[in-house]
Amino acid sequence: MEHNNRGQWGSNFGFLMAAIGSAVGLGNIWGFPFKMGASGGFPFLIIYLLLGVLIGFPILLTELAIGRKAGSSVIESYRSVGGPFGAFIGALAMLSPFLILSFYTVLGGYCLQYISLNIGELTGLFSSAGLTGTETFANMRANQMQAILFTYLFIIITFLIIRGGIQGGIEKFNKIGMPALFVMLLVVIVRAVTLPGAAEGLKFMFAPNFDILQHDFIKVLSTAGGQMFFSLSLAMGITVTYGSYLSKKESLVQNSLVIIVSDTIVAVLAGVAVLPAAFALGGPDAALSGPGLLYITLQDVFNHMGPLGPIFGILFYVLVALAAITSTIALDEVLVTFFMDRAALKGKTPSRIRMVSLVTLAVMLESTLVAADGLGANNFWIPFQELGLNLSASWLDFMDFISEGVAMPLGALLMSVLVGWVIGPRFVKDEVEQSGHTMGSGLYRYFQFCIRIAAPLGMAFILYGQIHTFLSPIG
Ligand code: PHE
Repeated sequence: MEHNNRGQWGSNFGFLMAAIGSAVGLGNIWGFPFKMGASGGFPFLIIYLLLGVLIGFPILLTELAIGRKAGSSVIESYRSVGGPFGAFIGALAMLSPFLILSFYTVLGGYCLQYISLNIGELTGLFSSAGLTGTETFANMRANQMQAILFTYLFIIITFLIIRGGIQGGIEKFNKIGMPALFVMLLVVIVRAVTLPGAAEGLKFMFAPNFDILQHDFIKVLSTAGGQMFFSLSLAMGITVTYGSYLSKKESLVQNSLVIIVSDTIVAVLAGVAVLPAAFALGGPDAALSGPGLLYITLQDVFNHMGPLGPIFGILFYVLVALAAITSTIALDEVLVTFFMDRAALKGKTPSRIRMVSLVTLAVMLESTLVAADGLGANNFWIPFQELGLNLSASWLDFMDFISEGVAMPLGALLMSVLVGWVIGPRFVKDEVEQSGHTMGSGLYRYFQFCIRIAAPLGMAFILYGQIHTFLSPIG
């Protein structure tokens, strides 16, 4: 109605590429593989998939339905279905992307540094002069100016894409970027599984370890839940925002399934690309080192590959940067759409370039803190350090705690309560059944069960698990 001028995706394929682009990110490439390996391998995958079906699917579907029904930005969409309670959930879902941007862009900036490092090696223009991966990364973290500049570069690249709008910027970029990412991933996999010692890495990831389930079942469950939730970009306003630009013709159920399945496939494939290399060089410790895996171990692998090393290095870090850019685009767009729609509601004609510039500047400001902090290496002005808790370790940890630890799971919990119990799941069915699509009674009953029982319980559990993990004392 009044939103006719907001624009729309050019095609369902374009929407899917953008939505999968937001889901596939750093979480898939380093988070999933090592968590799977450390948490029981194959049984972890089964639990992850089960949680995806029971919690991921209903929440994703509901977010898409809310966005498309309301056709508005995240807070307005939630308000239109849930009044002030809804608006509060919407506000949480807007806070998270803003905070996550503060460190996601810094991690993206490091990827750009690694691309340039490998280009330097390849061309002989500059070289890391035999430094180990650990030394290289320590230097990067210590060099505040360089970290800030590359973070800004990363933010500006995203700026250049999203200023083009939903169809002319975001869709256009993802339609090329995501298939390219997939092809690069396959190339890296072929190289990785033919490295000596690759089998160990695959065994670490896939070999079933039922022991861990007996001792640590709850921990495995909450790790899998937290990972699934972050990886699918739930409760971040992203699916609501992207859904608000989706045509009534398209199938919400099918789109939700495609997004979940694709995200999971990329996560598993990323493990196959990354772990064999990590094992070939560093053994299990390297695989378990989190971001270190991405920025230290793998650079070591490229350094040891001989003349082809830098080429694979460039390919790999372009791949990771691409995955991070398509997620950053989505995070930015939640904020941009909000300010655009708010201006329109006030009767003004929103200027996209102005809103995109404002969001970009705000993100630059907050990311400066994280970049200068060097992910905690530089102890950069942290007012909450005295607390002595994990969350006080660095700016990254702090931002991550508020967003991934609290706002995201709390938002999803409240959202499932709102839809399951306050306004009722019926409206999701109505929204799904636009343009002749049907939601069969079996599927609807299943959805009702998930959104009323499985999702709230699961989210309460994940919220508890996240807070517990983040707040556990250091060391
Ligand atoms: N899903 C992204 C990943 O797996 C991270 C992300 C979370 C992106 C939330 C946007 C919003 O890395």
